[in-house]
Parts: sequence; C-alpha cells; structure tokens
Amino acid sequence: MSTYRHPIHDFQYKAGELCCEGVKVSSIVKKVGTPVYIYSHKTLVEHFQKIREAFKSVSPIICFAMKANSNLAVLKTLVHEGAGFDIVSGGELKKALLVKADMKKVAYASVGKTDEEIMAAIRAEILIFNVESKPELKNIERIAAKMKRTVQVALRINPDVQAPTHDKISTGSLKKKFGIDLKTARGIFLDRRSYNHLRINGVHIHIGSQITESAPFLVAIKKALAFVDALERDGVKIEYFDIGGGMGIVYKDEAPQTAEAYARKVLPLLKGRKFRLIMEPGRFIAGNAGVFVTKKLYTKDNGVKKFMIVDAGMNDLVRPSMYGAYHEIVPVKKSKAKVIVCDVVGPICESADVFAHDRKVADVKDGEFLVLLSAGAYGYVMASNYNVRGRSAEVIVKGDQWAVVQQRETFKDLIAGASIPEFLK
Ligand code: LLP
Repeated sequence: MSTYRHPIHDFQYKAGELCCEGVKVSSIVKKVGTPVYIYSHKTLVEHFQKIREAFKSVSPIICFAMKANSNLAVLKTLVHEGAGFDIVSGGELKKALLVKADMKKVAYASVGKTDEEIMAAIRAEILIFNVESKPELKNIERIAAKMKRTVQVALRINPDVQAPTHDKISTGSLKKKFGIDLKTARGIFLDRRSYNHLRINGVHIHIGSQITESAPFLVAIKKALAFVDALERDGVKIEYFDIGGGMGIVYKDEAPQTAEAYARKVLPLLKGRKFRLIMEPGRFIAGNAGVFVTKKLYTKDNGVKKFMIVDAGMNDLVRPSMYGAYHEIVPVKKSKAKVIVCDVVGPICESADVFAHDRKVADVKDGEFLVLLSAGAYGYVMASNYNVRGRSAEVIVKGDQWAVVQQRETFKDLIAGASIPEFLK
C-alpha cells in the first residue's frame, strides 16, 4: 500500500478495524450489505465550522453546494449548523425546502433554468438567482413581472481565468459555457433599471473545483473586485459578492490550502467593502466526510495484468472513470494479506469501469471488504442505474449511532414508472 498517510479524519482503524467515529464499518456492512456510502456527521460539521471560523470576521452566508451531496440527512446536519444552499435545479430546491433550510440563504445557479424552476424558486423566496446569461435574465424578469414579485439577482461573471484542475471541472474561462463575459455583464448592470422586477445587486464567480492553491482564486477575486469597483464608480451598488466553491481536498498526496490560509489571503481583499460575502463550498465540506465500501469478489490474472473485481461499478462512483480521479483504497480489516499490484475494477461492461489502475492493494480474501476514501462529494449524487443496477445505500454515523439514510434501490424501484404498451404485448 502507499506510504503516505491519508488524513481520513473520523475514519480510523481501531484494533485493526476501520471505524467511522464510534462504529465499525464491518458492523454496518453486515447489516446493510455493499456497496454502501458511509458519512461521518462529525467530519461534516467540523469542515463546515472550519470555513465559518476562518471567515467569521465577515460572517459570510455559507451555501453548501448541494450538488456535491444531497442526501437529506447530510443536508439536515448542515442546516443545523446554519448552512444555506447553492442549488442548481428544481429538485435541489425541493430538497432545500424539505430540510427546512433558511430560504434567505439559498442561491440558485445553473446555465439553464426552466420557467417552472424559476417560478418555484420565486415562490420559495430564495435569497438570490445567480444568472448566467442575458436571455435567462430577461426570462426571470418576465416571470417575476407576471408573478408581481421583485427578485434579487447576481450576475455570474466569467473572469476568464484558467484554474489548474481537471479540464472537466474547470469553469472560469471563456471557452466554457459558464457565466457572462465582463463586457456584457457591465452592460447589464448599467442598464439594470430597465428590469423593473429585478434587483441586480450581486456579482458571482466560480472558477472550478478541486483547486488546491489560493493563487487562481485570488486572481479571479481580484478581477471581480476590479469589476465591482468600476461599477460602483458608475453608481451601481453591489450588495452580494459570491466567490463560489472550489476549495480542493486531499485525495492522494495533495497539500491543499486550509480554510484558514484561504481566508488569510481573501479577507484583506474584502476590507472596507459593504457587500455581504457568499461562499459555495461543496467538496471541502463533504468530500472527506464520506467513504464508499465495496466487496471484493475475486481476482483474475490474464498473464499480463491482475484485476481485482469488486461488487461496485462506475455507476456507483463515476469519478475515477470520468475524471481519472484518485481514491485511496484500504481494507475494512487490516490484514496480513500480501499487497498486489492490480487494476481494481467493477462488473460493468465498459473498459472505463476501473477504480484504480496498477494500484498496490491488499489482496484481501474473496468476500472481504475494501473502502474507497474521500467519496463523500460527487459520489452517490452522480450514481446511475447503468446495467440495471440499483443505486447503493447511504448511511450516516454520529458517535456510536448510525442509520441508513437512503435505502438501497431495489429492482422494483428501477422499473417503477416503466411499462410495455398494449400494442407491444
Ligand atoms: N458553486 C458552483 C456554481 C458550482 O458549479 C460548484 C461545483 C460549486 C459551487 C461547488 O464546488 P466545490 O466546492 O464542490 O468544488 N463532479 C465533479 C465536480 C463538479 C463541480 C461542479 N460545480 C467531481 O467529481 O470532481
């Protein structure tokens, strides 16, 4: 196995058994089976608090990016801590309502919002729409007018910066679909009075995800602040400044900036500003608060390569297939099993169904369990039913208590709503 120590926070070995807080992973697996996602309540809370503490001098509105993990128990945990939500769909809005989030802490971003979604968000009285184009702005104005309401709007500007991260999760350049170029955005702000039902009073940026250094954030924030300064010189008042999410975490041997170090660099830039800061962390809060457990089925050796085949697939956790993402793999029970170099693969009929390439892994016995670490963000939420596989279960642990917070999908769930028409019978 690898030589570095992965900071697995509230997932630690006790007497050779991996535990989440006070609960043995093996005892969860015995009752719930695999594959299963397990979340630590304590890690979720602590990571939220790290951001809140680091930025407390400006008391930001911390909108957890629900896309990272929208399990209701996870959301409720964060609501109890005072979190708001960054949402991107009508479904996420409904989840925010279901966990009784403070709607005055909900920001709604997305490059494409339907009329129904806009109406639902206006009805729910969310804090602000993060708008990503002029046609979208016009549509929100039209709908707000029809509903006789005034809504707050931040323009998501595209600062045209390259974030050093995987191309598929980099969003801040003009080659990407996100945000509005500065010239167009400035034009909209100067013309803001022609939108009678909008208060266009916010600036939003989000340059990408899993960014481990402060520098690219600072470049983007400085660009956005210069943009705000120019607007203020023209009499436009900015009340909300949303710096998005994107703070990276440790998957392997990264050394990401801490919340504190990030705050130390960002806060001086905001000195004397009158606007309210909004942040949208997702991965930073949930990423290392969750693991994903799978069962080793068996290994096979084709003479060229060894493959360890597990009962989970890319439909359960797509990050390695989609982004080449690295997830550390450790056994549930420390064993004397020899370490082998192999590809850890799922059962799906795709060559991309690989969790790890040429990885040193403990060759645990068939039927024993392996854990993929740092799977709390963009794990379950990106799962699919490919190959008619039900999505896995989700469990949350708090101290020595634990509960299934999402049942494993059954075949009945999978065919609910499906039918064969008379003319095919
Ligand atoms: N705000 C906006 C507008 C976003 O689009 C995102 C993420 C966030 C906040 C939260 O970013 P975070 O703090 O989690 O980095 N599926 C990919 C990540 C996609 C990120 C999408 N947007 C992955 O598994 O790496």
